[in-house]
Amino acid sequence: MCATTWFKNKFLWRVIFCLTTLTTFAGKEFLPGQIWYDTDGRPIQAHGGGILTFDGTFYWYGEDRTPGLHAAVSCYSSTNLYDWKREGVALWRTNLPRVQSRPTFVERPKVIFNPHTKRFVMWMHLEQNGYHCARAGVAVSDTPTGPFTFLNSFRPVTNDFNFSNDANRQTQFGATFRDMNLFVDDDGRAYVFYAAEDNWTMYVVRLNADFTGPETPLVQNKTWARILVGAHREAPAPFKWNGKYFLITSACTGWAPNAADLAMATNILGPYQSLGNPCTGEKASLTYGAQSTFVLALPSAPGKFIFMADEWHPDNLPDSRYVWLPLMIKRDGTFSVSWRDRWDLSVFGSALR
Ligand code: GAL
Repeated sequence: MCATTWFKNKFLWRVIFCLTTLTTFAGKEFLPGQIWYDTDGRPIQAHGGGILTFDGTFYWYGEDRTPGLHAAVSCYSSTNLYDWKREGVALWRTNLPRVQSRPTFVERPKVIFNPHTKRFVMWMHLEQNGYHCARAGVAVSDTPTGPFTFLNSFRPVTNDFNFSNDANRQTQFGATFRDMNLFVDDDGRAYVFYAAEDNWTMYVVRLNADFTGPETPLVQNKTWARILVGAHREAPAPFKWNGKYFLITSACTGWAPNAADLAMATNILGPYQSLGNPCTGEKASLTYGAQSTFVLALPSAPGKFIFMADEWHPDNLPDSRYVWLPLMIKRDGTFSVSWRDRWDLSVFGSALR
């Protein structure tokens, strides 16, 4: 081989090696706030989402805001949390009901599995322009990837809390249902957490045996409860550790970021005590520009959690970004979050910080 060819080949191999390493490396990291691509190289569309862990696979569901697609909820799957394969549209907008003859859309969908019915159950905030619809929507599927069939929409708690006759018609239809999340406890009972009473007070409501509605009869402080009363919180992200229930929420400032709060309770129905903002460092008072959506408990790694949040881009919502950061357990048994430009799961190597 002549010297020039040798040099050219060596150079080529270096480029190939460098590119491969970079690609592999980049694919095995979380890059909060950057564009995240699926395994086909398309930007991931799963906003306000949550993750179902089922049979060794993670399924990420979220708002699919792909322009022109008329999708409501997307589904992606992964076995390592870094590489996400698009499974397609889990719920189509054409399957959504009209409420009082007006079309609806979906925010903050979450999915859990019911081992008795063997069905995957999706809950969502069903909404209309103006945000006065404020209902829960429920859809089911026999497979995790769907497509899900829309079942019903309603406001789970219809008690009258002396609501004034407001634009949300809470006296007539019950307390509003907006930002929400689902949580399955160790005993297999499921709960929906949601911003109620026009976002002033959060509700926790235990679900019925097939997870498609509230457990009835509704008995306050037995099957459901008002929590963070009058605190004006939304974007609930519940999780459990060491027998205690934790709940991260945001303040209510629309798409604009604000300070998060971590609350703790010994009973899932509360009372919840605020522990303050779990975020630390620069931009902690704005949750690093993002808003909570879910806390993922890493399976087979007790006490290891990922805080998932959305950096909303209200002028171009499909371009909103994902901010996932490790929730680190502190010596007092509570949690903190700090910003990282890039990180991987090895940060959980030593759990106590
Ligand atoms: C936020 C909420 C988002 C979306 C937005 C609309 O408060 O968390 O999910 O509803 O308001 O302005």
